[in-house]
Amino acid sequence: MEKRELLYEGKAKRLYHCDDENLLISEFKDDLTAFNGEKKSSESGKGALNNKISTELFKLLEANGIATHFVKMLDANNMLHKKTDVILIEVIVRNVATGSLTRNLGIKDGTVLPFTLVEFDYKDDDLGDPKLNDQHCLILGLVKYQDELDKLRRMGREINDILRPYFEAKGLNLVDFKLEFGKDKDGNIILIDEISPDNCRFWDIESGEKLDKDRFRQGLGGLKVAYQEVLNRILEKK
Ligand code: CDP
Repeated sequence: MEKRELLYEGKAKRLYHCDDENLLISEFKDDLTAFNGEKKSSESGKGALNNKISTELFKLLEANGIATHFVKMLDANNMLHKKTDVILIEVIVRNVATGSLTRNLGIKDGTVLPFTLVEFDYKDDDLGDPKLNDQHCLILGLVKYQDELDKLRRMGREINDILRPYFEAKGLNLVDFKLEFGKDKDGNIILIDEISPDNCRFWDIESGEKLDKDRFRQGLGGLKVAYQEVLNRILEKK
């Protein structure tokens, strides 16, 4: 499948048209951004690691009944996927308190939550991705019906129920992650974007080491080694 014109360039991916009007190609970039684009860097090979990790996780989710946009990995940095109408809601799933949850609500960092928390953030950089409740989502017209919000929450939980034990068996604590969804040409809500250490937090269960983008956010170094370690755990047969 050949790349055609550039449709959109985001912080971590470039999106291209291709020969099939129902499909797009995502090129995973090496660029890193944090704090709403205020901190920037680049790490050679990061894009390829995220493409491979996302590919493996989309395949795992599809095998477990989750509809995703994934079609196939084309080469090191490129993924072929379905075209959707993007829903501008970031679905944040949290198993353990850290980051903003700790800062905003005073819950001690590392506290295992009594149940999985699913939150919505408005996907809008200019506004700084503010928190949304269901009424905000409907007033803004981000979805039409309450049912669709219920579905996003349900899918967030279902995906967590697949990924959390999967990573636990590989010695990784899935602390929290961000999901994005879109509507395919038949109007079905499907999982889009990527699932990678750029948008998940993974803590090594034994050492407590952070194996995700917090290495960049917090200036800890060793980002690529950490992402490679996540991929190695995914690829190890256990
Ligand atoms: O908790 P903190 O404020 O640091 O970040 P958050 O935005 O609440 O993030 C929760 C989880 O979603 C983390 O795993 C982030 O990496 C991920 N996230 C993301 O990937 N992209 C965003 N725009 C927001 C969150």
